[in-house]
Amino acid sequence: MKATKIKTLLQSKERNLNVTVQGWVKTFRANRFIALNDGSSLNNLQCVVDFEAFEESTLKRITTGAALQIEGLLIESQGGGQEVELQVNTLSIIGDSDPEKYPIQPKKHSLEFLREKAHLRVRTTTFAAIMRVRSALSFAVHKFFQEEGFFYVNTPIITGSDAEGAGEMFRVSTLDLKNTPLNEEGLPNFKEDFFGKETNLTVSGQLEAETYALGLGEVYTFGPTFRAENSNTTRHLAEFWMIEPEMAFYDLTDNMNLAEKFITSVLKDVLERCQEDLKFLDERLAKEDQSKPQAERSPMGLIEKIKFVIDNDFKRVSYTEAFEILRNSKPNKKKKFVFPVNEWGVDLQSEHERYLVEKHFNCPVILYDYPANIKAFYMRRNDDEKTVRAMDILFPGIGEIVGGSQREERLEVLEKRIEEMNIDKEELWWYLDLRRFGSVPHSGFGLGFERLVQFATGMNNIRDVIPFPRTPQNAAF
Ligand code: 4AD
Ligand code: MG
Repeated sequence: MKATKIKTLLQSKERNLNVTVQGWVKTFRANRFIALNDGSSLNNLQCVVDFEAFEESTLKRITTGAALQIEGLLIESQGGGQEVELQVNTLSIIGDSDPEKYPIQPKKHSLEFLREKAHLRVRTTTFAAIMRVRSALSFAVHKFFQEEGFFYVNTPIITGSDAEGAGEMFRVSTLDLKNTPLNEEGLPNFKEDFFGKETNLTVSGQLEAETYALGLGEVYTFGPTFRAENSNTTRHLAEFWMIEPEMAFYDLTDNMNLAEKFITSVLKDVLERCQEDLKFLDERLAKEDQSKPQAERSPMGLIEKIKFVIDNDFKRVSYTEAFEILRNSKPNKKKKFVFPVNEWGVDLQSEHERYLVEKHFNCPVILYDYPANIKAFYMRRNDDEKTVRAMDILFPGIGEIVGGSQREERLEVLEKRIEEMNIDKEELWWYLDLRRFGSVPHSGFGLGFERLVQFATGMNNIRDVIPFPRTPQNAAF
């Protein structure tokens, strides 16, 4: 039988309605009140049992975690705390749960404990709320681009190229590790491998997305991305989801404008669609903040922070301006930065990004025109010969959320750069072809989806905003 979603019932204005619901028991109090949740909403449906009408043996099986089907009458709630409740008529136990062994008890569990129980943590109020917001955000991403006339392209997950040139790739191979065929140099012979060449999991769909932008005009990807960087931080995953729009005939300013419009638009969408969940996460964050020392507390609540980003323009600052601000900053002068900022050209670390966003500007910042030497080969060179048309968007509490650039569309300049950086030009023949046949100025960026979910939910650790996080030494589930 098709059950009605609890969310629908909680919002229903109808009374004395006969309905069936299915869900999991959150709590069972006084042999009388079942708090039932089916995942559709933050709030539970209170189901009231007349215990005299049920066998003792049935009542005993109504334990936290058990799955039930209940048929009953939806009525005005007799008690406070909820508008409606369900007067239970018939109740069947679909799946028992051993209360002694079920790890998700009706009490506060630490996020660390729940990471070990990633297969069950979505049954907690917090994780269900996060994952509903995540789902709404993905939908908002597609909605935004589709309404803007972009086409969704699926770029390959297995590739032969290293788009970012950082060498942080997971190898894809079917060669026998115990009996690896070797070439004349004594190295693994990838000619005998599945694809007849070295392949790996993609670190970015950008290069392939560029080929499609130069035919379809405006495109975007939204898919899994893999990085074998050994970073055990609260912002890095080995497997994450990235959104990469790529647009023909866009310069860097057009690119920044799109990125800003995109981020504010999807945040507006979830603010509208996930009110209940965001209110809960806002309160959760406020409580967590209370237990921190004053100096570490967030000056704004979650919803306030989201609204602030929507309502205020992002501050656009060149690398050179940012460098001067950092060089003259108090923490730099007092040698408080782990990485001192003394010479133009240094890469900015997260401590610097956070200083700029959280201390100096107090709003999202778009940094642009970075030194060529700290950026990827494909970025368009400026006339000063030192900087490239790169842009990174930095967010409070997150750091870098977007990395993008205008792409080098001039064949000779790009070839020169590839050679300077010792990148295998042969591998990129198809990418260079784009500069041979109808090359146009074009731009794009990549937004780390989990970092956006972190911002929208206020979760401090990126491992808590993806169902099954992959990090160094951890690929359980
Ligand atoms: O700055 P990145 O490396 O840029 C690129 O990959 C470009 N090809 C994008 C483009 O222009 N199409 O990565 C883009 C974003 C980062 O700003 C960050 O938000 C996220 O991807 N990101 C990660 N998120 C989680 N875990 C990791 N290990 C991440 N590495 C990057
Ligand atoms: Mg980057």
